[in-house]
Amino acid sequence: MSEKTLAIIKPDAVKKRVIGRIIQRIEDEGFNILGLKMVKLSLEEAKQFYSVHKEKPFFNGLTEFMSSGPVVVMLLEGENAIKHWREVMGATNPAEARPGTLRREFGFSIERNAVHGSDSSQTAQTEIKFFFN
Ligand code: CMP
Repeated sequence: MSEKTLAIIKPDAVKKRVIGRIIQRIEDEGFNILGLKMVKLSLEEAKQFYSVHKEKPFFNGLTEFMSSGPVVVMLLEGENAIKHWREVMGATNPAEARPGTLRREFGFSIERNAVHGSDSSQTAQTEIKFFFN
């Protein structure tokens, strides 16, 4: 089933100059990139984007980090795109992510983990609407 998901290249990966390598991987994996833009989130926007996590102890750190520099936001499409993109990213904590996954390769910590992806069709819808209308 073809579906859409939202992918973000986080500020740590942009600073590391690996945007190109991450996009190459996305294309090699067969995703269609339907939308792509670089944006700098304000702290308020980051808080809104991650509002499902607002009660979590890592919420402030996460939203400060996500608004600390530009990010690259992409609308991806493909067969089982949500699950496929999560597999390509790897586990949230780069230390636990399998070799060959983007987080293992480019992530630094559970917070600075290089990439984001929607975790369900419900959040994909909300997240896509947040960045692309
Ligand atoms: P992401 O896929 O962007 O979705 C929520 C983010 O919260 C997640 O990636 C991590 O970067 C971050 N996160 C999740 N758990 C923790 C944690 N225990 N400590 C710090 N950050 C976390």
